[in-house]
Amino acid sequence: MEAARAETDFVTEAASHIIRAGGKRFRPMLVVLASQLYPGAEPERVDKAAIVMELTHVASLYHDDVMDDADVRRNVPSANTRWGNSVAILVGDLLFARASSTVATLGPEYVLLQAETFARLVQGQIAETQGPAEGQDPLEFYLSVIADKTASLIAASAVFGGMVAGASHEELDALARFGEEIGTVFQLSDDIIDITSTSSGKTPGTDLREGVPTLPTLMLLSSDDPADSRLRDLVSRQLDNEAEVSEALELLRAHPSLAAARDEVARRAEVARSYLEPLPEGPARDALSALCDQVVTRSN
Ligand code: IPE
Ligand code: IPE
Ligand code: MG
Ligand code: MG
Repeated sequence: MEAARAETDFVTEAASHIIRAGGKRFRPMLVVLASQLYPGAEPERVDKAAIVMELTHVASLYHDDVMDDADVRRNVPSANTRWGNSVAILVGDLLFARASSTVATLGPEYVLLQAETFARLVQGQIAETQGPAEGQDPLEFYLSVIADKTASLIAASAVFGGMVAGASHEELDALARFGEEIGTVFQLSDDIIDITSTSSGKTPGTDLREGVPTLPTLMLLSSDDPADSRLRDLVSRQLDNEAEVSEALELLRAHPSLAAARDEVARRAEVARSYLEPLPEGPARDALSALCDQVVTRSN
């Protein structure tokens, strides 16, 4: 909230709007847990590293809601709904700037990782709007997009935690591998939640409205069962008709491709868990392992 404080009350209010709304704080939690794998991290540096990750994330949410024309975020009206796209974009920029100010106090290796991560996130978001190149496998493309737009920041959060606690290069590599995998699982789950959940604090069906392919819809599109031809039509274009969105959601919720996507999410969560093996045993590692279950079953 301090980082969102600005020169006018209006900017402070707009910049703190999504922070105040809460959210799961998954990335700062990862920073803290990874730091607790080791003894002796300075609490103040752990807090700063966690704040940098959450501010980077929240800033990307302001921008993402403009891109997705989303009305609701964290159970409150999105910033673009309340104040329009320009304010939402600029307030997101302000929070990126504040993340930069904070990361600068941690040291140049933190600045470098945050900058490289932010560049990956942005390029993932752009790639999603562009779609796969001619001849590129759509599933492979989708997985590369979610690695860049989401797993990059989640991996950087795990690595930041290790860095503030003085982890070795090998351990930071393990944390990065773990973070990339659990970050991919996190977005795969988010995409399932967009279809199934009414308690996510976001509007269900946003990906369908935007015509963004996800694991269940890509699985569906790769089959040619004539019984699915209506649903295949609905998920292969943007939907601006709410009756069609409801129809697509209802059909998808009952379709075996959704169950198949869930199985794949569970399989990848086990891969993530296996990457914890080289890290020090103890309560922090147990908590990271528990997160591997939580990201599969979560509904918000
Ligand atoms: C939403 O992130 C955007 C994605 C990368 C899926 P979260 O699901 O972590 O959103 P909050 O922070 O809990 O609101
Ligand atoms: C966007 O993915 C991820 C980032 C913010 C980088 P989504 O568009 O699926 O995120 P939500 O569902 O709006 O949170
Ligand atoms: Mg979105
Ligand atoms: Mg989503």
